[in-house]
Amino acid sequence: MLYPSRSELPDHVPSGRVLDYDSFQVDAPDGDFAAAMVRLRDSGVPDLFWTQRNGGHWVATDAAFIRQILEDAETFSSKAMRVPKEANPTPPIIPLMIDPPDHAVYRRLISTSMTPSEVKKLALRAREICVGVIDQLEPRGECEFVADFAQKMPIAVFMGMLDLPDEDKPVIMAFVDRIVRPDAPETRMQGFADMGAYTMAKVRERKARPGSDLISKLARSGFGDRPLRDDELQGLMSVLMLAGLDTVASMLTFITRFLATSPHHRVQLRERPDLLTNAIEEFLRRMAMVNLTRELVRDTQLGGVLLKAGDLIVAPTALANFPQDGSNWLEVDFERPRHLHATFGAGAHYCMGSSLARAEIRVFLEEWLKRIPDFAIAEGAVLEVKAGAAVMMPRLPLVWKPRNS
Ligand code: HEM
Repeated sequence: MLYPSRSELPDHVPSGRVLDYDSFQVDAPDGDFAAAMVRLRDSGVPDLFWTQRNGGHWVATDAAFIRQILEDAETFSSKAMRVPKEANPTPPIIPLMIDPPDHAVYRRLISTSMTPSEVKKLALRAREICVGVIDQLEPRGECEFVADFAQKMPIAVFMGMLDLPDEDKPVIMAFVDRIVRPDAPETRMQGFADMGAYTMAKVRERKARPGSDLISKLARSGFGDRPLRDDELQGLMSVLMLAGLDTVASMLTFITRFLATSPHHRVQLRERPDLLTNAIEEFLRRMAMVNLTRELVRDTQLGGVLLKAGDLIVAPTALANFPQDGSNWLEVDFERPRHLHATFGAGAHYCMGSSLARAEIRVFLEEWLKRIPDFAIAEGAVLEVKAGAAVMMPRLPLVWKPRNS
């Protein structure tokens, strides 16, 4: 994606902390994004640096700085969630782009849809979809994992949450594709606009004929004593689609890329189901792929460096998960003791869908490995990683030997 660079270096940025870094480019020809970020960090870049690219912004590479940024919402605002500033959607995505104290009020409005019993129901639906899709794919002996599988399950779960009809799936897939795999910034913004128009049509429909689904619940909700405005409803619905869709699709793709290249881990998962819970956590730690952005509310010092109000700072969650303590954190080890990771963020905005995401990953691993135990990356496949707010691989061509061949 092409956003303009800043021409003048801001006065407060020390020249020793400037790097020519494009957060939309990553050097990961094998598809291993987290390893590429660790390579960058370990190449001697400053723990906090400024880049003139994409409007000009800071990047934190130190794990402790990343946590500090995420946990201090009073200094580091969420009103910009990506770089550059003009790439942020309006109306804002709620609660993602809202700061405390209003943030908590909005968060409560959707938390009733994320209770353990709701997650259980959604996981059942995810399993149904997952089995159906894999059963269709298995006899083919090949697939393009992202479009053929990874995007399908979370879309189906989202549609279940909002009680959307199956015939809307192609429309939803089309704007999700524009948001998740845009060829230009305008395509992504158009995707947001289309999604807004679609979700608001649904709000009007459910206002007229209420049901027990989340859209109907939100349409009846209020902020304090007043009913929610349309822009608030749109922002709340966007979060469910955006936060839960490309992230899950991307996580499943990174996990599958890894498993396709590691027969040993596939065997371990099949033979030791007792390791599954740990394995999911280890995958989440190892495959973190969200680059969070915050906007400085006021001037502050971070590690002795002056950050000015209005500056943007990128906090890559991946770099919070690989401490520089001499251990081999790049190794995927299902028997590793639990490690606190930042894959779902930290602080006030901690992911509201973490249980649902874990459940979707579990369903995928159980059902896929049962039906397609051995698979590989198609020969000659070019693996590309698209960086940005949620990093993803646009394509992952896989091959395997069908059961009845
Ligand atoms: C592996 C999959 C997922 C990853 C890696 C992930 C990651 C994250 C991260 C890093 C944040 C923090 C954002 C910030 O601090 O600005 C977040 C927030 C959020 N996530 Fe997830 N997420 C995933 C799946 C889901 C799912 C399935 C849902 C539900 C449909 C969901 C709903 C949300 C919501 C509503 C927020 C906003 C919370 C707030 O602003 O208070 N996420 N997610």
